[in-house]
Amino acid sequence: MEPDPRMYVHGRTVREAERLAYQASGLAHILHHDTRYPAGSQVLEAACGIGAQTVILAKNSPEAEFVAVDISPESLLQAERKAAHEGCANITFRTADVYDLPFGPGSFDHVFVCFLLEHLDDPLLALHRLKTVLRPGGTITVIEGDHGSALFYPDSLDAHRVIRCLIDIQREMGGNSLIGRELWHLLNEAGFSYVQVSPRLVYADAGHPESIEKVKNIFIAMVEGVREEARSRGMVTGPEWEKGIRDLYRTTENGGTFAYTFFKAVGVQGE
Ligand SMILES: C[S@@+](CC[C@H](N)C(=O)[O-])C[C@H]1O[C@@H](n2cnc3c(N)ncnc32)[C@H](O)[C@@H]1O
Repeated sequence: MEPDPRMYVHGRTVREAERLAYQASGLAHILHHDTRYPAGSQVLEAACGIGAQTVILAKNSPEAEFVAVDISPESLLQAERKAAHEGCANITFRTADVYDLPFGPGSFDHVFVCFLLEHLDDPLLALHRLKTVLRPGGTITVIEGDHGSALFYPDSLDAHRVIRCLIDIQREMGGNSLIGRELWHLLNEAGFSYVQVSPRLVYADAGHPESIEKVKNIFIAMVEGVREEARSRGMVTGPEWEKGIRDLYRTTENGGTFAYTFFKAVGVQGE
């Protein structure tokens, strides 16, 4: 059976919406500090979800015009409310499938995509579609995580097992949560020029208390989100799951460390 693109591994619960919002604001500096769009430029954000990244983009480039699309009308409704609440008047929201975009060739000066490709069964096709709506000389910016980049102390096989549950469930749903390391290859393969990838490390220890909160509320919360799915698929026993999650939290306590890398890629349409 084809994976339903409207379903994705993290679900659309209130807790997940809160996690996405926390993730966007908690990572705003590390992910967005070097993204600014010129006045008057037309920017497409593909898969804006609940608008968590959208409002950051729109506030950072208040004179650019944003079109934010997602396949989920429910998420778009939340995104619209969020944008209105934050006073962002430079965003238009629209329902659209990234594989079948309702825009003509060269409609946009820039494209921005965050945490989408990891959920798609054909990320290369999506990049080709996005390239079509970008004008020659325009840029695409893609941000993805890579769960294989999670390093921590104390190390724990049980903690790795629960992370592996998330990776395997996402893969079975047609996605790839190890996609960060592939961005260089994917953007080049899609025909973008001047591709540059920069890894963005989040590192937490007792000396970085704000990062400890990010590890708990972004990464561990995301793993915890597949608990029922992992249990019902028989991937782990209840006690194994509890131990794995406990060991992940242990890395945020006395003497523990945790590191995770996001990947940000920028490419240009044309030679
Ligand atoms: C993890 S969320 C990321 C949302 C947002 N970019 C962020 O960083 O907060 C993934 C989003 O991709 C959307 N999505 C999945 N498949 C899609 C498709 N084929 N076309 C458009 N959006 C899609 C989902 O509806 C969801 O809102």
